[in-house]
Amino acid sequence: MIKTKLCELLGIEYPIIQAGMGPFQTQKLAEAVANAGALGIISTSGIIFGSLGIDLGPLTAGKGGSYDTVTKYIREVGKGTRKKGATFGINVMVSAELGAPAMEFVRAAVNARDEDPDIREGLKVIITSAGDPLPWTDVIKSSGLKWFHVVPSVRHAKRAEKAGVDAVIASGHEGGGHVAWEPVHTMAILPSVVNAVDVPVIGAGGFCDGATLAAALALGAVGIQMGTRFIGTKEADTCFGDIWKNRLLKTDDRSTIVARGFVGPLRYLRNEASVQLAKLTVEKVPDLFVGHPDITLDQALLATELEGHKALAGQNDEKALFYGGEVAGRIQDIPSVKELIERMVEEAEDIIKELPGKVIV
Ligand SMILES: Cc1cc2nc3c(=O)[nH]c(=O)nc-3n(C[C@H](O)[C@H](O)[C@H](O)COP(=O)(O)O)c2cc1C
Repeated sequence: MIKTKLCELLGIEYPIIQAGMGPFQTQKLAEAVANAGALGIISTSGIIFGSLGIDLGPLTAGKGGSYDTVTKYIREVGKGTRKKGATFGINVMVSAELGAPAMEFVRAAVNARDEDPDIREGLKVIITSAGDPLPWTDVIKSSGLKWFHVVPSVRHAKRAEKAGVDAVIASGHEGGGHVAWEPVHTMAILPSVVNAVDVPVIGAGGFCDGATLAAALALGAVGIQMGTRFIGTKEADTCFGDIWKNRLLKTDDRSTIVARGFVGPLRYLRNEASVQLAKLTVEKVPDLFVGHPDITLDQALLATELEGHKALAGQNDEKALFYGGEVAGRIQDIPSVKELIERMVEEAEDIIKELPGKVIV
């Protein structure tokens, strides 16, 4: 049994968080993860795109108003987790341009808890990401929810601590989907953040099994957040259909690529569509890979990304854009969420128990 401060903080059995994975829907996944004893997270960024009138195709989340849609998602997951008294949260991207819908999500979460005691029991945390946490202190700290913030650097981690978060999630560049402009990977960022702040730290980017869970604990983390590995599970929502899962099973250790996406750089599984987006990135945002990016989004890039999202619905394996981390190459099966979590924890326990016999100190 692996228990850490993260388990105590949220009342969960295992120190594992399912990552927010907008613009896709993750209510079913969140429910399965929460019921398996880890932390399930509802994704909301698809709702934002929908409310901004940006059509990412039929498989992504979000039609209608932000407040009502997120309330619906919270109630769905609340209903599915109530019997087990399981714990879940929501991910809210708080970059400056998304401030208004982000505020609606926080309001929806607070009100959903006020209106239903079961939801109050289950919905315990807001994970903010992709923006400055400081303007959010008053509204989140008075909400009764725990607050975690995703950070890509030591500087950002210190700022999150100053804002009053209960934990930071240090996110390395090998992760799937949204990655930082500066390519600092988990092995470097995670221990640096652990050393820099006093609040508990969770690692994200590159975690998928017991060995990586044990490694995160060895680096000083209180738990891990996983995105890509959870896409490759039976209960992942229908937006991560067989086409996506089969693609995961086909990848090897060099099968991802970073390109400029809608909200900054994103890591994709390598195929025709992502290679084309990366080529366009080199042309349109040549500074992306040298650390001084122009953050204005080029329209040709946006159009290409939108095409890739729509191709996902068209089931075209080479034309569709699939977000995915470097661990994609390590995924060789599609277990149930419960099987995956229990297997990981068991493996991590074995590794930790066997380690003293493998070293001479
Ligand atoms: C499909 C997908 C969508 C993502 N969308 C979001 C998002 O909406 N908000 C966010 O903060 N991070 C997002 N991320 C990043 C994850 O939250 C997480 O940090 C990352 O998946 C961890 O790395 P891993 O994929 O190696 O597990 C996304 C990742 C993936 C794979």
